[in-house]
Amino acid sequence: MTTTTAAAHAIRGTFFHTPEYGSFEMLEQALIELDGHGAIERITLPADPAYPERLRAVREADEREHGYLLELDEHEVALPGFVDLHVHAPQWPQAGIALDEPLEVWLNERTFPLEARFGIPEGGDPTGGDFAQPIYLDLVGTLLSRGTTTCVYFGSADRRSSEVLAQSCAQLNQRAVVGKVVMDDPAANPAFYRDASPEQALADTEDFIAAVERHAARSAANDPRFPGLFPAVTPRFIPSCTEAALRGLGEIARAHDAYVQSHCDESQWQSGVARERFGTSDAEALADFGLLKRKTIMAHGTFLLDGEAEIFRATGAALAHCPISNAYFGNAVCPVRRIHGQGVTIGLGTDISGGFSPSLYDNIRMAVMASRILEDGVDARVPSERRGAGEPSRISAVEALYLATKGGGEALDLPIGSFEVGRALDMQVIDLKRPFADLTGNGVFTSPADQLERILYLATPENIRTVWVQGQQVFARG
Ligand code: GUN
Ligand code: FE
Repeated sequence: MTTTTAAAHAIRGTFFHTPEYGSFEMLEQALIELDGHGAIERITLPADPAYPERLRAVREADEREHGYLLELDEHEVALPGFVDLHVHAPQWPQAGIALDEPLEVWLNERTFPLEARFGIPEGGDPTGGDFAQPIYLDLVGTLLSRGTTTCVYFGSADRRSSEVLAQSCAQLNQRAVVGKVVMDDPAANPAFYRDASPEQALADTEDFIAAVERHAARSAANDPRFPGLFPAVTPRFIPSCTEAALRGLGEIARAHDAYVQSHCDESQWQSGVARERFGTSDAEALADFGLLKRKTIMAHGTFLLDGEAEIFRATGAALAHCPISNAYFGNAVCPVRRIHGQGVTIGLGTDISGGFSPSLYDNIRMAVMASRILEDGVDARVPSERRGAGEPSRISAVEALYLATKGGGEALDLPIGSFEVGRALDMQVIDLKRPFADLTGNGVFTSPADQLERILYLATPENIRTVWVQGQQVFARG
């Protein structure tokens, strides 16, 4: 069962996207035609001599098959669907609360007890009973409604409720990467919430990968536009795992060519743990265990040193920048501009619930603001030449949009995040003229650059009217 209500074969309207980092493109009144899998097959602009003929063809097809052509209204524009690279699904009930302790206290006192409630007893209800499934469906639906069409999730340490999360994404047609969290070190995790042993953690990870791959294959067989569901090897972070588990997970990731997700250099405390245990940086330790490679997403990198950025670049591992979460737990501002300049692939993440907001719009805004604060510094008592980072650090809203879309696609090695031939048609349709949510600037400043920036800074959930994944409508605001 899915909640899909429509599948378009062609869309005509105005599209904004960022095919290259640092600049945007507006495709005005473009006609985008899709193949049978919901990928973009052809883009025709009004200046193209073929445009009238293509438009006539799709309009005729629409007469025969209602809904074949989606024509955006005059006051609507489309943006690519967002790619959220970092969400903790079982933390959704505590989004917006309990943000006053340091990371290690917050994990032990608030987060582990909550995540432990997502355990499904052996032989228990595989839907997660009354607890996990409704929360997961609500989270996935909420993220879709905010324009997030692809999402990378940590489940809990419980294998079967993490499968419920994967099924919830497939049911609502959100493209998803999902992991069962591994946290097996008895010295670091409470008895009520940890893997029984490294062996059990590895066996559960193998079983989880097989179950998700089976579910994905069945879904794709039923629906040629199924957007994809992928398992991820998910060591919580170095402080919570034994060496045996970390090494075993690296081997599993290689054997399955699977996604890997974890946390790297998130906070002052975390970035020191690997050095104490292994005498190396966090990134070196992760690389030694075989956990840094293409299709690896590491959250944060706030304390990433230059040598570590080089390891990311060389291995092809990506960072999920989570600027709202960093304000609470990061102890610093992640130098996105420097790390991007060093050739590291970067996308954006909400880090629910270290970050309180399910919206990547909010994280685009925070990414820009944090980068400005990093550049200028924070303490007015310090002379200006010593107050800031001492290097250009600011990023623009358009650069942040790239991170939220095509950057996320690069991190996942998937053809998503922009309106280009061969990429999945994932989009959010923005209504610029909602009552008291006007994004036209009352018609005063109307250049494409102004229009796009206004959307990025001011769009509310009210403006996001419909959301489409792989050419299928997955959300419509009533
Ligand atoms: N490091 C390990 N686990 C977590 C988590 O759940 N949230 C954050 N922000 N950092 C972590
Ligand atoms: Fe996190």
